[in-house]
Amino acid sequence: MKSAKLKELLRRYKSASSEYHATSYWDAYEKTILETIDSMDMNQLRSGKYPILATFGFNDVIHLYHPNLSWIKKSMLKFVHNFILKDRAILPYGLDIRNIQEMAYHHCELIAESTKSTNIENIEVSTFGNPQDVFKVSGRNYTMTFLSYYLRYCFVNKYIGLKGDETIVELGSGSGYQVEILKKIHPNLTILCFDLPAQLFLCEEYLSKAISQEVVGSNLTSEWNNLDNLKKGALHFFGNWQIPLLKNLKFDIFWNAASFGEMEPDVVKNYINQISGKASWIYLLQARNGKETSGKNHVKTPIDIEFYKSQLSSYSLIREQDAWLAHSKLAQSGGYFEGIWKQQ
Ligand SMILES: C[S@@+](CC[C@H](N)C(=O)[O-])C[C@H]1O[C@@H](n2cnc3c(N)ncnc32)[C@H](O)[C@@H]1O
Repeated sequence: MKSAKLKELLRRYKSASSEYHATSYWDAYEKTILETIDSMDMNQLRSGKYPILATFGFNDVIHLYHPNLSWIKKSMLKFVHNFILKDRAILPYGLDIRNIQEMAYHHCELIAESTKSTNIENIEVSTFGNPQDVFKVSGRNYTMTFLSYYLRYCFVNKYIGLKGDETIVELGSGSGYQVEILKKIHPNLTILCFDLPAQLFLCEEYLSKAISQEVVGSNLTSEWNNLDNLKKGALHFFGNWQIPLLKNLKFDIFWNAASFGEMEPDVVKNYINQISGKASWIYLLQARNGKETSGKNHVKTPIDIEFYKSQLSSYSLIREQDAWLAHSKLAQSGGYFEGIWKQQ
Protein backbone atom coordinates (compact mmCIF):
# COMPACT_ATOMS: atom_id res chain seq x y z
CA MET A 1 0.00 0.00 0.00
CA LYS A 2 1.67 3.22 -1.18
CA SER A 3 -0.48 5.90 0.43
CA ALA A 4 0.04 6.37 4.18
CA LYS A 5 -3.34 8.14 4.37
CA LEU A 6 -5.20 5.18 2.86
CA LYS A 7 -3.23 2.74 5.00
CA GLU A 8 -4.33 4.59 8.14
CA LEU A 9 -7.97 4.68 6.97
CA LEU A 10 -7.87 0.93 6.41
CA ARG A 11 -6.35 0.33 9.82
CA ARG A 12 -9.12 2.29 11.54
CA TYR A 13 -11.82 0.68 9.38
CA LYS A 14 -10.63 -2.83 10.26
CA SER A 15 -10.75 -2.09 13.96
CA ALA A 16 -14.30 -0.63 13.72
CA SER A 17 -17.25 -2.81 14.75
CA SER A 18 -18.81 -5.16 12.21
CA GLU A 19 -21.86 -3.01 11.34
CA TYR A 20 -19.44 -0.62 9.63
CA HIS A 21 -17.82 -3.24 7.44
CA ALA A 22 -18.75 -3.61 3.79
CA THR A 23 -21.37 -6.29 3.19
CA SER A 24 -21.27 -8.85 0.35
CA TYR A 25 -21.94 -6.39 -2.51
CA TRP A 26 -19.01 -4.07 -1.76
CA ASP A 27 -16.73 -6.61 -0.14
CA ALA A 28 -16.45 -8.28 -3.56
CA TYR A 29 -14.97 -5.06 -5.04
CA GLU A 30 -12.60 -4.09 -2.25
CA LYS A 31 -9.48 -6.04 -3.26
CA THR A 32 -9.58 -4.89 -6.90
CA ILE A 33 -10.21 -1.27 -5.94
CA LEU A 34 -7.23 -1.27 -3.55
CA GLU A 35 -4.94 -2.89 -6.12
CA THR A 36 -6.05 -0.34 -8.72
CA ILE A 37 -5.34 2.61 -6.42
CA ASP A 38 -1.87 1.25 -5.68
CA SER A 39 -0.77 1.33 -9.30
CA MET A 40 -2.88 4.11 -10.79
CA ASP A 41 -2.00 7.43 -12.36
CA MET A 42 -4.31 9.97 -10.67
CA ASN A 43 -4.23 12.12 -13.82
CA GLN A 44 -6.06 9.28 -15.63
CA LEU A 45 -8.63 8.76 -12.85
CA ARG A 46 -11.59 9.44 -15.14
CA SER A 47 -10.20 8.33 -18.49
CA GLY A 48 -11.77 4.88 -18.46
CA LYS A 49 -8.38 3.25 -17.87
CA TYR A 50 -9.65 1.94 -14.50
CA PRO A 51 -13.16 0.57 -15.14
CA ILE A 52 -13.60 -0.70 -11.56
CA LEU A 53 -13.83 2.94 -10.39
CA ALA A 54 -17.03 3.39 -12.42
CA THR A 55 -18.77 1.21 -9.81
CA PHE A 56 -18.80 4.15 -7.42
CA GLY A 57 -19.24 7.04 -9.78
CA PHE A 58 -16.04 7.69 -11.77
CA ASN A 59 -17.98 6.90 -14.90
CA ASP A 60 -17.02 9.36 -17.62
CA VAL A 61 -16.60 7.08 -20.58
CA ILE A 62 -18.76 6.99 -23.69
CA HIS A 63 -19.65 3.33 -24.15
CA LEU A 64 -20.25 3.15 -27.89
CA TYR A 65 -20.83 -0.56 -27.43
CA HIS A 66 -22.19 -2.29 -24.36
CA PRO A 67 -19.29 -2.56 -21.86
CA ASN A 68 -19.95 -6.25 -21.20
CA LEU A 69 -19.56 -7.34 -24.85
CA SER A 70 -16.54 -9.56 -25.56
CA TRP A 71 -13.64 -7.97 -27.48
CA ILE A 72 -14.48 -10.13 -30.52
CA LYS A 73 -18.03 -8.78 -30.68
CA LYS A 74 -16.77 -5.23 -30.08
CA SER A 75 -14.22 -5.61 -32.91
CA MET A 76 -16.91 -6.93 -35.26
CA LEU A 77 -19.19 -4.03 -34.42
CA LYS A 78 -16.33 -1.56 -34.91
CA PHE A 79 -15.64 -3.08 -38.33
CA VAL A 80 -19.31 -2.78 -39.36
CA HIS A 81 -19.37 0.77 -38.05
CA ASN A 82 -16.16 1.96 -39.68
CA PHE A 83 -16.30 0.19 -43.02
CA ILE A 84 -19.93 -0.60 -43.80
CA LEU A 85 -22.09 2.01 -42.11
CA LYS A 86 -19.36 4.67 -42.16
CA ASP A 87 -20.90 7.94 -40.91
CA ARG A 88 -24.52 6.92 -41.51
CA ALA A 89 -26.71 7.47 -38.44
CA ILE A 90 -27.62 4.18 -36.80
CA LEU A 91 -29.91 5.50 -34.07
CA PRO A 92 -33.62 6.24 -34.71
CA TYR A 93 -34.62 9.76 -35.82
CA GLY A 94 -31.11 10.26 -37.26
CA LEU A 95 -29.65 10.88 -33.78
CA ASP A 96 -25.94 11.14 -33.14
CA ILE A 97 -24.00 11.67 -29.90
CA ARG A 98 -24.00 15.45 -30.22
CA ASN A 99 -27.82 15.48 -30.47
CA ILE A 100 -28.07 13.37 -27.31
CA GLN A 101 -25.69 15.69 -25.43
CA GLU A 102 -27.66 18.76 -26.51
CA MET A 103 -30.98 17.19 -25.52
CA ALA A 104 -29.57 16.20 -22.12
CA TYR A 105 -28.35 19.76 -21.56
CA HIS A 106 -31.72 21.14 -22.64
CA HIS A 107 -33.44 18.67 -20.27
CA CYS A 108 -31.34 20.19 -17.46
CA GLU A 109 -32.29 23.73 -18.48
CA LEU A 110 -36.00 22.88 -18.42
CA ILE A 111 -35.81 21.07 -15.07
CA ALA A 112 -33.88 24.01 -13.58
CA GLU A 113 -36.63 26.37 -14.70
CA SER A 114 -39.44 24.24 -13.29
CA THR A 115 -37.65 23.68 -9.96
CA LYS A 116 -36.36 27.27 -9.58
CA SER A 117 -32.81 25.95 -9.47
CA THR A 118 -29.52 27.59 -10.43
CA ASN A 119 -29.10 27.12 -14.16
CA ILE A 120 -26.63 24.58 -15.47
CA GLU A 121 -24.95 27.33 -17.53
CA ASN A 122 -23.55 28.76 -14.27
CA ILE A 123 -21.34 25.78 -13.55
CA GLU A 124 -19.03 23.43 -15.42
CA VAL A 125 -17.36 20.12 -14.69
CA SER A 126 -13.73 19.76 -13.64
CA THR A 127 -11.47 18.12 -16.20
CA PHE A 128 -9.10 16.73 -13.57
CA GLY A 129 -8.47 13.01 -14.17
CA ASN A 130 -8.92 13.29 -17.95
CA PRO A 131 -12.63 12.42 -18.33
CA GLN A 132 -13.20 10.88 -21.76
CA ASP A 133 -16.76 12.14 -22.16
CA VAL A 134 -16.28 15.92 -22.11
CA PHE A 135 -18.33 18.11 -24.41
CA LYS A 136 -18.76 21.85 -24.57
CA VAL A 137 -21.90 23.95 -24.46
CA SER A 138 -21.42 27.73 -24.80
CA GLY A 139 -17.71 27.26 -24.14
CA ARG A 140 -18.20 25.36 -20.84
CA ASN A 141 -17.26 21.75 -20.09
CA TYR A 142 -19.86 19.09 -19.27
CA THR A 143 -20.09 15.32 -19.06
CA MET A 144 -23.28 13.28 -19.20
CA THR A 145 -22.58 12.13 -15.63
CA PHE A 146 -22.24 15.73 -14.41
CA LEU A 147 -25.62 16.59 -15.94
CA SER A 148 -27.20 13.55 -14.30
CA TYR A 149 -26.00 14.51 -10.80
CA TYR A 150 -27.18 18.07 -11.50
CA LEU A 151 -30.75 16.75 -11.90
CA ARG A 152 -30.60 15.24 -8.39
CA TYR A 153 -29.70 18.69 -7.06
CA CYS A 154 -32.72 20.19 -8.93
CA PHE A 155 -35.07 17.61 -7.38
CA VAL A 156 -33.82 18.38 -3.87
CA ASN A 157 -33.86 22.11 -4.47
CA LYS A 158 -37.46 22.01 -5.62
CA TYR A 159 -38.63 20.83 -2.19
CA ILE A 160 -36.04 22.39 0.10
CA GLY A 161 -35.21 25.64 -1.68
CA LEU A 162 -31.53 25.69 -0.77
CA LYS A 163 -30.28 29.01 0.62
CA GLY A 164 -26.63 28.05 0.39
CA ASP A 165 -25.64 27.97 4.08
CA GLU A 166 -26.99 24.49 4.90
CA THR A 167 -25.11 21.56 6.43
CA ILE A 168 -25.31 18.38 4.37
CA VAL A 169 -24.19 14.89 5.41
CA GLU A 170 -23.61 12.46 2.56
CA LEU A 171 -23.04 8.79 3.30
CA GLY A 172 -21.51 6.78 0.43
CA SER A 173 -20.29 9.81 -1.53
CA GLY A 174 -18.43 7.61 -4.03
CA SER A 175 -16.65 9.79 -6.58
CA GLY A 176 -17.89 13.01 -4.96
CA TYR A 177 -19.59 14.19 -8.17
CA GLN A 178 -22.72 15.20 -6.23
CA VAL A 179 -20.66 17.34 -3.87
CA GLU A 180 -18.91 18.93 -6.84
CA ILE A 181 -22.30 20.12 -8.17
CA LEU A 182 -23.55 21.30 -4.78
CA LYS A 183 -20.36 23.19 -3.89
CA LYS A 184 -20.13 24.82 -7.32
CA ILE A 185 -23.69 26.10 -6.99
CA HIS A 186 -23.50 26.95 -3.27
CA PRO A 187 -19.85 27.49 -2.22
CA ASN A 188 -20.78 28.12 1.44
CA LEU A 189 -22.44 24.76 2.12
CA THR A 190 -20.90 22.82 5.00
CA ILE A 191 -20.56 19.23 3.80
CA LEU A 192 -19.56 16.03 5.60
CA CYS A 193 -18.77 13.04 3.36
CA PHE A 194 -18.67 9.55 4.92
CA ASP A 195 -17.54 6.44 3.04
CA LEU A 196 -15.53 3.21 3.03
CA PRO A 197 -11.72 3.79 3.02
CA ALA A 198 -10.74 3.38 -0.64
CA GLN A 199 -13.76 5.28 -1.95
CA LEU A 200 -13.24 8.07 0.58
CA PHE A 201 -9.57 8.35 -0.37
CA LEU A 202 -10.32 8.77 -4.09
CA CYS A 203 -13.25 11.11 -3.44
CA GLU A 204 -10.94 13.37 -1.43
CA GLU A 205 -8.25 13.23 -4.13
CA TYR A 206 -10.79 14.22 -6.76
CA LEU A 207 -12.71 16.93 -4.90
CA SER A 208 -9.49 18.56 -3.66
CA LYS A 209 -8.80 19.30 -7.34
CA ALA A 210 -12.37 19.80 -8.59
CA ILE A 211 -13.53 22.52 -6.18
CA SER A 212 -11.80 25.59 -4.83
CA GLN A 213 -13.26 25.68 -1.30
CA GLU A 214 -11.51 24.52 1.85
CA VAL A 215 -11.18 20.77 2.33
CA VAL A 216 -10.71 19.21 5.78
CA GLY A 217 -9.09 15.88 4.97
CA SER A 218 -9.50 12.48 6.59
CA ASN A 219 -5.93 12.71 7.91
CA LEU A 220 -7.23 15.44 10.27
CA THR A 221 -10.75 14.18 10.98
CA SER A 222 -9.69 10.61 11.72
CA GLU A 223 -8.43 11.83 15.11
CA TRP A 224 -11.67 13.60 15.99
CA ASN A 225 -13.78 12.44 18.95
CA ASN A 226 -16.47 15.07 18.34
CA LEU A 227 -17.39 17.70 15.75
CA ASP A 228 -16.20 20.75 17.72
CA ASN A 229 -13.72 21.57 14.96
CA LEU A 230 -16.23 21.42 12.12
CA LYS A 231 -15.56 24.38 9.80
CA LYS A 232 -18.53 26.28 8.48
CA GLY A 233 -18.51 26.36 4.67
CA ALA A 234 -15.85 23.64 4.36
CA LEU A 235 -15.94 20.13 2.95
CA HIS A 236 -15.01 17.37 5.42
CA PHE A 237 -14.10 13.71 4.89
CA PHE A 238 -14.80 10.93 7.39
CA GLY A 239 -14.63 7.15 7.46
CA ASN A 240 -18.11 5.55 7.54
CA TRP A 241 -17.39 4.12 11.03
CA GLN A 242 -17.24 7.73 12.29
CA ILE A 243 -21.00 8.25 11.76
CA PRO A 244 -21.54 8.20 15.58
CA LEU A 245 -19.78 11.61 15.61
CA LEU A 246 -23.12 13.02 14.40
CA LYS A 247 -24.80 12.30 17.74
CA ASN A 248 -24.96 15.94 18.87
CA LEU A 249 -25.23 17.58 15.45
CA LYS A 250 -28.45 18.98 14.01
CA PHE A 251 -28.06 19.26 10.26
CA ASP A 252 -30.19 20.10 7.26
CA ILE A 253 -29.97 17.22 4.80
CA PHE A 254 -28.93 13.58 4.95
CA TRP A 255 -28.07 12.38 1.42
CA ASN A 256 -27.68 8.76 0.30
CA ALA A 257 -27.67 7.82 -3.38
CA ALA A 258 -27.30 4.31 -4.80
CA SER A 259 -25.67 3.22 -1.56
CA PHE A 260 -28.12 1.96 1.10
CA GLY A 261 -29.57 -0.45 -1.46
CA GLU A 262 -26.14 -2.07 -1.79
CA MET A 263 -25.93 -2.85 1.93
CA GLU A 264 -27.87 -5.32 4.11
CA PRO A 265 -30.96 -4.21 6.09
CA ASP A 266 -29.34 -4.30 9.56
CA VAL A 267 -26.46 -2.14 8.39
CA VAL A 268 -28.88 0.39 6.91
CA LYS A 269 -31.01 0.35 10.08
CA ASN A 270 -27.93 1.23 12.12
CA TYR A 271 -27.14 4.23 9.88
CA ILE A 272 -30.76 5.40 9.85
CA ASN A 273 -30.92 5.20 13.66
CA GLN A 274 -27.89 7.43 13.86
CA ILE A 275 -29.22 10.17 11.60
CA SER A 276 -32.92 10.02 12.51
CA GLY A 277 -34.11 13.11 14.32
CA LYS A 278 -30.86 14.94 13.50
CA ALA A 279 -31.48 15.66 9.80
CA SER A 280 -34.32 18.01 8.88
CA TRP A 281 -34.55 16.43 5.41
CA ILE A 282 -33.53 13.10 3.91
CA TYR A 283 -32.81 12.51 0.23
CA LEU A 284 -32.65 8.93 -1.02
CA LEU A 285 -32.07 7.59 -4.52
CA GLN A 286 -32.24 3.78 -4.51
CA ALA A 287 -33.29 0.75 -6.54
CA ARG A 288 -37.08 0.68 -6.14
CA ASN A 289 -37.30 -3.09 -5.70
CA GLY A 290 -33.80 -3.64 -4.30
CA LYS A 291 -30.56 -4.83 -5.86
CA GLU A 292 -29.84 -8.22 -7.42
CA THR A 293 -29.44 -11.28 -5.19
CA SER A 294 -27.15 -13.20 -7.56
CA GLY A 295 -24.04 -12.48 -9.64
CA LYS A 296 -20.57 -11.38 -8.55
CA ASN A 297 -21.91 -8.31 -6.77
CA HIS A 298 -25.14 -9.06 -5.00
CA VAL A 299 -26.98 -8.40 -1.77
CA LYS A 300 -28.30 -11.16 0.48
CA THR A 301 -31.56 -9.35 1.27
CA PRO A 302 -32.85 -6.75 -1.18
CA ILE A 303 -34.15 -3.49 0.26
CA ASP A 304 -37.17 -2.01 -1.48
CA ILE A 305 -38.82 1.38 -1.14
CA GLU A 306 -41.25 0.09 1.51
CA PHE A 307 -38.31 -0.61 3.82
CA TYR A 308 -37.23 3.05 3.72
CA LYS A 309 -40.79 4.22 4.31
CA SER A 310 -41.11 2.04 7.40
CA GLN A 311 -37.68 2.95 8.80
CA LEU A 312 -38.29 6.67 8.37
CA SER A 313 -41.48 6.71 10.43
CA SER A 314 -40.61 10.01 12.12
CA TYR A 315 -40.34 11.63 8.68
CA SER A 316 -43.01 12.41 6.06
CA LEU A 317 -42.37 11.37 2.49
CA ILE A 318 -42.95 14.61 0.62
CA ARG A 319 -42.42 13.26 -2.87
CA GLU A 320 -40.97 10.27 -4.68
CA GLN A 321 -40.58 9.75 -8.42
CA ASP A 322 -38.71 7.57 -10.88
CA ALA A 323 -35.08 8.69 -10.99
CA TRP A 324 -33.67 10.05 -14.23
CA LEU A 325 -30.25 10.47 -15.71
CA ALA A 326 -29.84 13.47 -17.99
CA HIS A 327 -30.49 11.39 -21.11
CA SER A 328 -32.65 8.45 -19.93
CA LYS A 329 -34.42 6.90 -16.98
CA LEU A 330 -32.15 5.27 -14.39
CA ALA A 331 -33.18 1.78 -15.47
CA GLN A 332 -30.58 -0.52 -13.83
CA SER A 333 -31.86 -3.15 -11.39
CA GLY A 334 -35.41 -2.62 -12.66
CA GLY A 335 -35.43 1.13 -12.00
CA TYR A 336 -34.56 3.61 -9.24
CA PHE A 337 -36.65 6.08 -7.27
CA GLU A 338 -35.59 9.36 -5.71
CA GLY A 339 -37.47 10.64 -2.71
CA ILE A 340 -37.42 13.46 -0.22
CA TRP A 341 -38.51 13.05 3.40
CA LYS A 342 -39.13 15.88 5.89
CA GLN A 343 -38.80 15.61 9.67
CA GLN A 344 -42.25 15.67 11.33
C1 LIG B 1 -22.81 2.89 -6.28
S1 LIG B 1 -21.85 3.84 -5.22
C2 LIG B 1 -22.74 5.36 -5.22
C3 LIG B 1 -21.86 6.55 -5.02
C4 LIG B 1 -22.56 7.90 -5.08
N1 LIG B 1 -23.47 8.08 -3.99
C5 LIG B 1 -23.27 8.05 -6.40
O1 LIG B 1 -24.49 8.26 -6.41
O2 LIG B 1 -22.60 7.96 -7.43
C6 LIG B 1 -22.19 3.19 -3.59
C7 LIG B 1 -21.46 3.90 -2.47
O3 LIG B 1 -21.88 3.34 -1.22
C8 LIG B 1 -20.73 3.12 -0.42
N2 LIG B 1 -20.96 2.03 0.55
C9 LIG B 1 -21.20 0.73 0.27
N3 LIG B 1 -21.33 0.01 1.41
C10 LIG B 1 -21.17 0.87 2.43
C11 LIG B 1 -21.22 0.74 3.85
N4 LIG B 1 -21.43 -0.42 4.42
N5 LIG B 1 -21.04 1.86 4.59
C12 LIG B 1 -20.84 3.06 3.99
N6 LIG B 1 -20.79 3.25 2.65
C13 LIG B 1 -20.96 2.17 1.88
C14 LIG B 1 -19.66 2.75 -1.44
O4 LIG B 1 -18.38 2.87 -0.90
C15 LIG B 1 -19.96 3.72 -2.55
O5 LIG B 1 -19.35 4.96 -2.34
